[in-house]
Amino acid sequence: MFDNNTFNNKIALVTGGRSGIGYQIAKDLLQLGATVIIASRKEEQLKKAADELAKFGTVHSHPCDIRKTEEIQGLVKVIQEKCGRLDILINNAGGQFPALTEYINDKGWNAVINNNLNGTFYMIREMGNAFFIPQKNGIIVNIIADILRGFPGMIHTGAARAGVENITKTIAQEWSDFNIRINCVAPGIVESTGLDTYPKPVQDMFEEAKKAIPMHRFGTVKDISNAVCFFASDLSSYCTGTTLYVDGAQHLNYDKMGLARVMRDFLNPQ
Ligand SMILES: NC(=O)c1ccc[n+]([C@@H]2O[C@H](COP(=O)([O-])OP(=O)(O)OC[C@H]3O[C@@H](n4cnc5c(N)ncnc54)[C@H](OP(=O)(O)O)[C@@H]3O)[C@@H](O)[C@H]2O)c1
Repeated sequence: MFDNNTFNNKIALVTGGRSGIGYQIAKDLLQLGATVIIASRKEEQLKKAADELAKFGTVHSHPCDIRKTEEIQGLVKVIQEKCGRLDILINNAGGQFPALTEYINDKGWNAVINNNLNGTFYMIREMGNAFFIPQKNGIIVNIIADILRGFPGMIHTGAARAGVENITKTIAQEWSDFNIRINCVAPGIVESTGLDTYPKPVQDMFEEAKKAIPMHRFGTVKDISNAVCFFASDLSSYCTGTTLYVDGAQHLNYDKMGLARVMRDFLNPQ
């Protein structure tokens, strides 16, 4: 089981580790003994989070936009200098906005695909080539979303996350000879800083949707981090290429929270 030594001598990178779910993952990995690097775009907030996290263990931070290969390669250099290797990559960075399909322009579509699909792929490729493949050892955990039945109201992120889930299945096979495991965690609605970014009607809808979640509550950042730590540890040593839904059974029982209907009513009030 987990104990303070679970991640002793392990080096873990958490993208988007300055806030919300990523912050909790970084905190838990530190408390379980890992050295953690957090990376995201906003340097000031990143530094502040790293300063706060330092009370739980050894933490480094480096600004990096996962959409930019040259910035990821800069991050690789920093990890090589400060830690000498990387054992665990948590692809948590991402974002999306609610929108009905017919209103999404090329810019909006490309922004989400570029961040949530391309950015995750670039991170996996660069960290794989720099660390995991030469080391013949590595663990990757991708945060996706509740996409089992499509994602009405957020088609772009549904497509991007489905892409990441398929990348996960491919890499589980291609890189198993390098002793690399890769899995996904699919959160339902999680009370985190990310949720605050949605407009008021969507937040009201989320409150309504809570009733339709079989467990009648939203997830917490800790619920998600627990699952991530399982996949990041040897407790999951025979799991690869799989997805764990952490959503109170929402993926089995919902009409996607009525998101598309609420948005249509909001956009076209009669
Ligand atoms: N909360 C939920 O209900 C929920 C449900 C399903 C999936 N998720 C996913 O879970 C992940 C964490 O969500 P959260 O709720 O914790 O949201 P959050 O607080 O908004 O966290 C997103 C993090 O990603 C970073 N980020 C975004 N784009 C980036 C980029 N291009 N390069 C580097 N870093 C980037 C952000 O930092 P910077 O701004 O500094 O770059 C931020 O720290 C996200 O991928 C989110 O989409 C969340």
